[in-house]
Amino acid sequence: MNYKEALRHPVFKIISKSVEELDLCAYAIGGFVRDFLLKRGDAKDIDIVAIGSGIELAKQVSKNLPNKPKVQVFKTYGTAMLRYEDIEIEFVGARKESYSEDSRNPIVENGSLQDDQNRRDFTINALALSLNESTFGNLLDPFDGTQDLENKIIRTPLNPDITYSDDPLRMLRAIRFATQLGFKIEENSLEAITRNSSRIKIITMERVVSELHKILESDKPSIGFLLLEKTGLLDYILPELTALKGVEEVEGQRHKDNFYHTLEVVDNISKHTNNLWLRWAALLHDIGKAPTKKFHKRIGWTFHGHEFEGSKMVYKLFKKLKMPLNDKMKFVQKMVLMSSRPIVLAQDMVTDSAVRRLVFDAGDYVDDLMTLCEADITTKNPKKFQKYHNNFKIVREKIIEVEERDHVRNFQPPISGEEIMKTFNLKPSREIGVIKEFIKEAILEGDIPNEYEAAYTLMLKKGKKLGLEVRS
Ligand code: CTP
Repeated sequence: MNYKEALRHPVFKIISKSVEELDLCAYAIGGFVRDFLLKRGDAKDIDIVAIGSGIELAKQVSKNLPNKPKVQVFKTYGTAMLRYEDIEIEFVGARKESYSEDSRNPIVENGSLQDDQNRRDFTINALALSLNESTFGNLLDPFDGTQDLENKIIRTPLNPDITYSDDPLRMLRAIRFATQLGFKIEENSLEAITRNSSRIKIITMERVVSELHKILESDKPSIGFLLLEKTGLLDYILPELTALKGVEEVEGQRHKDNFYHTLEVVDNISKHTNNLWLRWAALLHDIGKAPTKKFHKRIGWTFHGHEFEGSKMVYKLFKKLKMPLNDKMKFVQKMVLMSSRPIVLAQDMVTDSAVRRLVFDAGDYVDDLMTLCEADITTKNPKKFQKYHNNFKIVREKIIEVEERDHVRNFQPPISGEEIMKTFNLKPSREIGVIKEFIKEAILEGDIPNEYEAAYTLMLKKGKKLGLEVRS
C-alpha cells in the first residue's frame, strides 16, 4: 500500500516543510490514518503529533500557509488547532500520560512517538505516518494495527485494564467502533470492559451521549446495544432499557422480551431513516412497559398506559443524560406517546375517521410515526406480518387522500371563537369552547367537510340547541 497517497493534500507538504524548519519529528496519527486505510473517504479532521511542541509546530505551519490561518491554542491540554480550507488540523506534542484513579485529569510528561502510541485507545487508532521529508509517508505501526484492521478487530495497545482505566470512555468507544465498522472486540478487551464497566460513572454525560448517538447512527445499532448489555455498561447508562429484559411466565402465559424486540425495531427503522431522533424514539418506544406490566388472570399480560408512562420517562431520561430538553425531546415524547395508535388501526378496519384523527393528532409528524410503527412489526407469524404491512399501506394511502380532502394536518378551526361570539352576541364563555369542539369533532368524524360554509351551518344548529339566539 502506498501510504503517501493519504498525504496527497498539499497541506501535508507545508506541514513537512515546517517540521524540518523546526528540526522536529512529526506524524499524522489516529482516526485520519485509520479511515484512509478503511477507505472511509477523506477525513476532515487531522491529528498531528509532534515530538516536541505541537503548539510551536502549529504556529510555524500557519506562517507557511498562504492565508496564515488563526491558531487556536489550548494551553491546558498543550494542543493547538487551525483550519485550512475545509479541514481542521489539531497539533499535539507526544505525551506520556498516566491518569489518577478517580479523575480524567492526566499527569502529562513529554514523550516519544512510542510513548504516545502506547497511550492511545486502540491499535487501529495508533497508526502513524511520518511527515519528515526523508521518511515522508512511512507507516509506524508497532502494535500490528493494520493486521487488526484487516481482521476487523478492536484491540488495545497496552493491557486493556490499563487502557480502559486511563479513560473509561474508551469502553464505549470500543463498542461504538465495533458497531460502526462491524468489527469484533478482542476477547480480553471485552472481559476488561465487563470488569471495569462501573468506571463509566466518572465520565461526563455529554461524552457518553455523543457515543450513544454514534451507535444509534450506525447501520445496525443493535450490535452496540447488545454489547452494552453484555458488558454491563447499559445498566449504568440506560437502565430503563435493561429493565425491559426477560420473559415472564404466569399460568402458562408469556409476554415477549421487550428488550430484544426494541433492538429489532431500532434495526428495522435504521433501514428506513437516518433521523437520529426517530431512531431514539424507536429505542425508547417501549420503556414504559417495565413499570406498567401487570398480570391479569383472565386477560394475561397487560401494559396499560405504557405509552403515556414512557413519554414521561423520556423527559426524565433526557434530563439525566443532560440532553437538551428542546423540540427534539418533545418529538421523541410525541412518538412514544402515539406509538401504538397506527397499530391499533392496522389490526382493524382502516376507517377514514380514524385516519383523520391520526393526522390531526400527529400533525407534521404523521409520516415519522408511520415509519416507527412499520418498524415495530416484529411478529414472526408471516400471515400477521403481511396483514399489518398491507394495512399500513392502506393507512398511508388514506393519509394522503384524507389530507388532500380535509386538510386536518395543523388543523385551524374554520370558524373562530370571535365569530361565534359575534354571531350569538356572547362574552367569552364556556359555550364558545363547546361549539368549537363540536365543529372539530364533526370534521374529524367526517360528518361535515373542513369548510367554512358547512361549519357555519353546524354552528347555528349547535347554538340553537344550547338555547343561544342569533344576533339580529
Ligand atoms: N483517542 C484516545 N482515547 C480517547 C479518544 C481518542 O486514545 N478516549 C485517540 C485515538 O488515537 C483517536 C484520536 O485520539 O484516533 C482522535 O480521537 P477522536 O478524534 O475523538 O476520534 P477518531 O479516532 O478520529 O474517530 P471519530 O472521528 O470517529 O470519533
